[in-house]
Amino acid sequence: MAITRTHPFFCFLLSSSLLLLFLLGSCNNYRLVEASGGQTANNQHHHVIVVNSLIPASTCSPSLKGSSRSRTLQVVHKNGPCSPLDLQKKTRSYNLSQILGQDEQRVRSIQSTISQQQLVEDSKAKIPAKSGRSFGTGNYVVTVGFGTPKRDLSVVFDTGSDLTWIQCQPCVVSCYQQTEPIFNPPTSSTYSNISCGSAECAQLKSATGNSPSCRSTCIYAIQYGDSSYSIGYFGRDTLSLTSSDVFPNFQFGCGQDNEGLFGSAAGLLGLGRHPVSLVSQSATKFGKKFSYCFPPVSSSTGFLAFGDQAGTSSSGVKYTSLLTDSRGPSFYFASLNGISVGGQRLSIPTTVFTSSGTIIDSGTVITRLPPAAYSALRSAFRQATSSYPSAPSYSILDTCFNPGGQSTIRIPKIVLHFAGGVDLDVDASGIVILASSSQLCLAFAGNSSPSSVAILGNTQQKTFEVVYDVAGGKLGFGAGGCS
Ligand SMILES: *[C@@H]1O[C@H](CO)[C@@H](O)[C@H](O)[C@H]1NC(C)=O
Ligand SMILES: *[C@@H]1O[C@H](CO)[C@@H](O)[C@H](O)[C@H]1NC(C)=O
Repeated sequence: MAITRTHPFFCFLLSSSLLLLFLLGSCNNYRLVEASGGQTANNQHHHVIVVNSLIPASTCSPSLKGSSRSRTLQVVHKNGPCSPLDLQKKTRSYNLSQILGQDEQRVRSIQSTISQQQLVEDSKAKIPAKSGRSFGTGNYVVTVGFGTPKRDLSVVFDTGSDLTWIQCQPCVVSCYQQTEPIFNPPTSSTYSNISCGSAECAQLKSATGNSPSCRSTCIYAIQYGDSSYSIGYFGRDTLSLTSSDVFPNFQFGCGQDNEGLFGSAAGLLGLGRHPVSLVSQSATKFGKKFSYCFPPVSSSTGFLAFGDQAGTSSSGVKYTSLLTDSRGPSFYFASLNGISVGGQRLSIPTTVFTSSGTIIDSGTVITRLPPAAYSALRSAFRQATSSYPSAPSYSILDTCFNPGGQSTIRIPKIVLHFAGGVDLDVDASGIVILASSSQLCLAFAGNSSPSSVAILGNTQQKTFEVVYDVAGGKLGFGAGGCS
């Protein structure tokens, strides 16, 4: 039987996504212009950035490190000139206002799930853990092989998701437009469906938040906070990450009804903690260890590495604890406990961080801080940049100034402190975003509630090799990871 528009999951998904719909105000749209590696001087407590270098390059300049390693995957921004999804192969201008709007939807979904879980715990109710719900569509893609013979497909990778899925022919209900040919299971000699009564099918509930259904084969349904979704057959096939890292019988979703903001990617690679995630399914070989590096600019490349390859890219990776939290069993929690601006540690009580908790996420763009931490950061940043005229806020970025006609600007360093004395000295590319020629904005935002979880977003992770040693319970940061 085919999946039809009246499929109950579909209706549920549609109504819940509409509730989540977040309408962005009438922001002006500018091309996303990022702070780049155009740093001229670098004193102890400040970054000096050449303003012209903030205009993004329209051609791809791949990082040598990423492309010289055969056992790692190249990571590219899905909208940048290095993306295989960039059909024009030229200047794909991003819509920053749209990216920030989608980011807000993702963050709201993550936070609502975590606070719902909190309510369950507070009431000590015996409600099954709602683990592994997935949110948002992420911004970085890697290319991996599915099936036999393998078909290379570019997928968004996401540490905030568990289930891997790709669009599949015959697209019974609908497929969105993707750049590469849509995977066709009958052309793969190793594809098989997963049966309804299997243990694998049963675990979809905790991986997706939705009970699987059965139409002669196991059917998954997953929706994301930005109203994207995928529904289809739960199947198995060979996954080839690299020529020497090949996983037969990898379980993934073969999407027959797909819609959303995947930027013409073929699907999504789930790197959360749930048993269905790639991290868990590859655990025997990789020991639940992986790392990635996001490039400083969207015209460069980073990498995604697994197992022994992870943590080797940068010398001096510093490790803090990688924590679990029953409020969100699939998420990666870290113990952020302080912030310094321009060499001065802000006086923020540790309880501000402990009462929110912090997750690290590859798919959230802008770091979200507890309100008290953000207001302290904002004040210190405003003070340090007070020689520039202030500028209107842009979307969720409320701290902007006008670089005017200056050829260089000076911004304070921002250091995020983690338990164990581990410091993340955020790269200049992770501190400010040039939203327009007259708006250079602090690339952080505050939560509205002190109990909402803080999120370390991908902007602030740029240029570091971020190592997830899940089995070892360690989270590492290595400077100069991509270059
Ligand atoms: C950018 O995104 C905003 C908000 O999503 C939208 O209103 C606007 O039309 C988009 N602009 C362009 C040029 O696509
Ligand atoms: C998987 O299940 C679907 C739906 O029942 C069916 O159309 C398809 O042929 C099956 N594929 C294989 C390889 O069994």
